[in-house]
Amino acid sequence: MPGMDMIDPFGRTISYLRVSVTDRCDFRCVYCMSEDMAFLPKKDLLSLEELDRLCTVFIEKGVRKLRLTGGEPLVRKNIMHLVRELARHLKSGALEELTLTTNGSQLARYAGELADAGVKRINVSLDTLDADKFHAITRWGHLDKVMAGIDAAQAAGLKLKLNAVALKGFNDAELPEMLRWAHGRGMDLTVIETMPMGEIEADRTDQYLPLSILRANLEKQFTLKDIPYKTGGPARYVEVVETGGRLGFITPMTHNFCESCNRVRLTCTGTLYMCLGQEDAADLRAPLRASEGNDLVAAAIDEAIGRKPKGHDFVIDRRTNRPSVSRHMSVTGG
Ligand code: GTP
Ligand code: 5AD
Ligand code: SF4
Repeated sequence: MPGMDMIDPFGRTISYLRVSVTDRCDFRCVYCMSEDMAFLPKKDLLSLEELDRLCTVFIEKGVRKLRLTGGEPLVRKNIMHLVRELARHLKSGALEELTLTTNGSQLARYAGELADAGVKRINVSLDTLDADKFHAITRWGHLDKVMAGIDAAQAAGLKLKLNAVALKGFNDAELPEMLRWAHGRGMDLTVIETMPMGEIEADRTDQYLPLSILRANLEKQFTLKDIPYKTGGPARYVEVVETGGRLGFITPMTHNFCESCNRVRLTCTGTLYMCLGQEDAADLRAPLRASEGNDLVAAAIDEAIGRKPKGHDFVIDRRTNRPSVSRHMSVTGG
């Protein structure tokens, strides 16, 4: 029934929707994508109006926080139209937060419009501050563009969180510097354990760095104080006493946060994934298109939430030489 909260079989209230508005991206990060990716068929894409309609049904059903992801959300054609439309739910008070996770490549162009629309806080993925390493890890990206995007976002008054995937031998030694830099500019930083999603060329066992190790290393230089700060996402935060800034740890592999999961994710073709780490999904496009009213799609959402799994079964080890989940992160945007 509209207006009723979505509660899953484990008693978790679903209040956070992540929407991957496109699975395409102008980067090819080596831990995320293969060089030659197969994307979802364009003919299956939901229109921006359909995405708006679906998001609105979710908001009516209790979603309070909505995050646009990708792929790279800002490469979706006319994306600002969707942002401005969805912002009406901020004005009405139905939605607490409308935000996005971006690679920053297009931010210089869009930061002002995002802020004008009512977006307050965004997450920018940034795994290194070194231009050559940045190009190597993203294959196609240029650090100066992302830096210009970050500058523009701050100038527009947006609060920023940087996301860095912890990659062994790639950015672990650089993290103290990244932390000082981010905190020096008033940005939070979160580090993320790599997850085995989708086929890539590299060996994830070589990349994977448990954050317990990273934290122990940081504690040789910094005083990390656990704090109860929460954003609705899976990060657990510490305050870095020396910088006064916040550092978050997203630890899907070493510390499962599934028991407090509050989210589901929608793809650009209208598929609902109830867990990032499971294959099970529900098609919402057919019920959406089957009638003008929203009863069918609302019923399909209830049915899907009714089978939200307890959690993921991610494993990264030498013997399991396959991704735990066949789709890439870019399909669901985390
Ligand atoms: P805020 O807390 O609002 O800043 O957002 P967030 O951390 O949830 O979002 P963001 O897009 O910055 O995600 C950061 C990382 O957390 C991404 O790599 C996501 O894949 C990961 N993440 C987000 N939600 C989940 C989840 O439900 N399960 C797992 N395993 N990882 C998640
Ligand atoms: N494991 C962990 N994080 C990943 N991301 C992309 N692929 C993976 C993966 N396999 C990160 C990006 C971005 C966020 C949305 O997800 O770097 O910060
Ligand atoms: Fe694109 Fe983000 Fe994946 Fe990198 S991690 S390829 S920026 S979707």
